[in-house]
Amino acid sequence: MSFPSELYASRMRQLRPSTIREILKVAAQPEIVSFAGGLPAPELFPVDAVRAAADEVLTRHGREALQYGPSEGFPALREWIAGEMQSRGIQASAADVLVTNGSQQVLDLVAKLLINPGDVVLTENPTYLAAIQAFQALEARFVPVPTDEQGLIPEALPELIKKNRPKFLYTIPNFQNPTGVTLSRERRIALARIAAAHELLILEDDPYGKLRYRGAEIPPVKHWDESGCVLYASTFSKTIAPGLRLGWVAAPREIFSRLLILKQAADLHTSSFDQRVACAFLTANDQSAHLGRIRGAYGERFEVMDAALQKEMPAGYRWTRPEGGMFLWLTGPGELDGLELLERAIKHQVAFVPGRDFFPAEGGNNYLRLNFSNSNPARIREGVRRLGALCRAD
Ligand SMILES: Cc1ncc(COP(=O)(O)O)c(C=O)c1O
Repeated sequence: MSFPSELYASRMRQLRPSTIREILKVAAQPEIVSFAGGLPAPELFPVDAVRAAADEVLTRHGREALQYGPSEGFPALREWIAGEMQSRGIQASAADVLVTNGSQQVLDLVAKLLINPGDVVLTENPTYLAAIQAFQALEARFVPVPTDEQGLIPEALPELIKKNRPKFLYTIPNFQNPTGVTLSRERRIALARIAAAHELLILEDDPYGKLRYRGAEIPPVKHWDESGCVLYASTFSKTIAPGLRLGWVAAPREIFSRLLILKQAADLHTSSFDQRVACAFLTANDQSAHLGRIRGAYGERFEVMDAALQKEMPAGYRWTRPEGGMFLWLTGPGELDGLELLERAIKHQVAFVPGRDFFPAEGGNNYLRLNFSNSNPARIREGVRRLGALCRAD
C-alpha cells in the first residue's frame, strides 16, 4: 500500500533523509577505520560495576525498580545530579532536575515547548546535527551566530536578537560537537550578561564537560546566570554509557513545570530500572577514578590523531586541537568536497562525517569531523594514513 503525501503532517516536509547516514552504514564494516560515529570507547564502559549495580537494585528494590515511577525522575538520582551540578559551579537542587531519556530528549522537549513554525533559533555555526533535526521537526528557522576558535561571539548577539527575535539560543560550550571548540571564560560571562540584558533564553548543552583531558575547567554559562535565563542540559551517555539513555535538564520553575507536562505526554517517565541502576553505580563507585580512565584514553587518542595528521596531511589542511571531548574538526582547501571525499574514503576503508550537515544554513563543504574516542591508537594511525594518502592524491 502506498500512502498519499497529505497523510503526513506538513512539518515532515522539512525533514530529509540524510544521504550521509546511508553512506555511513557501510562504515560499520570492521575493515573500515571509522572516525565517523559519535561513539564513546566501549572498552571503557563499566560493565562489571553496572552488572553489580543492576544485581543490587533487583535484589533490594526489584519491585519498585520494575514499577512506574515519577515523571520528574527517581528522587535519589535527582539528588545525585543536583550535587554533580553544584560541583560544576551551578546552584541547583533536586527540585530543579528533570531526568530525561538522554539529553537528546531535552532538545525535543524544549523544541516542543518553544518553537512555533518559523520561529528563530540561534545556534553556533556549525552545530550538533541531531539538534538541527530536533528543532527542524518543529519547523524552526535557524540563524547562525558568528563563531571563531573561541566559540560563538557574544557581541554579535544584540544585533541578531533585535533583527530576528529568536525564541532561544542553543549552545554547546565545552568541546563542541562537531568542532571540539570550547567557549572561553570571558565569552561565557559576556553571554550570560547579554542574555540577561536582552531576555534571551539559552539552552546550554553540556554532554562533554567532564571529558577534559588538558587545560583548566571553565564553569558552565549557567554559573553566571543571575536572571534564570539558562536551561542546563547534560547526560550520562559519555560518563557511564549511552545505552542507558539517561540525561537531564535543570530549568527555572516556570519552565520546569511545562517541560514536565511535555515529558508526561512523551513517555510518562524515564526507565525506573535504568535510573536506579545508574544511581547505585554512581554511589558505589569512585567516579573520579572512572572518569580519569576515560580522560586518559581520550587524551592519548587525540594526541595520536593530532600527530598522525601532522605527519600525513598535505598543506592546505588544518584542524582544531580540542582540550577534551571526542571530536576534532578538519578544514580542507576551499574547493574540497567532503561528501565526494567520503565516497572515495570508504573505498579506501576509512570514514568520517563530511561537515556540510552540521551547518543549519548553506556552506560547509570543505570540512570533516573526525572522532577519536572510538578507535585505538593503532587504528587511528592507520586510518589517518589512509585519509592522508587520499588527500595528498588530490
Ligand atoms: C552536543 C550533543 N548533545 C546531545 C547529545 C545527545 O546525547 P544523549 O541523548 O545520548 O545524552 C549528543 C550526542 O552525541 C551531543 O553530541
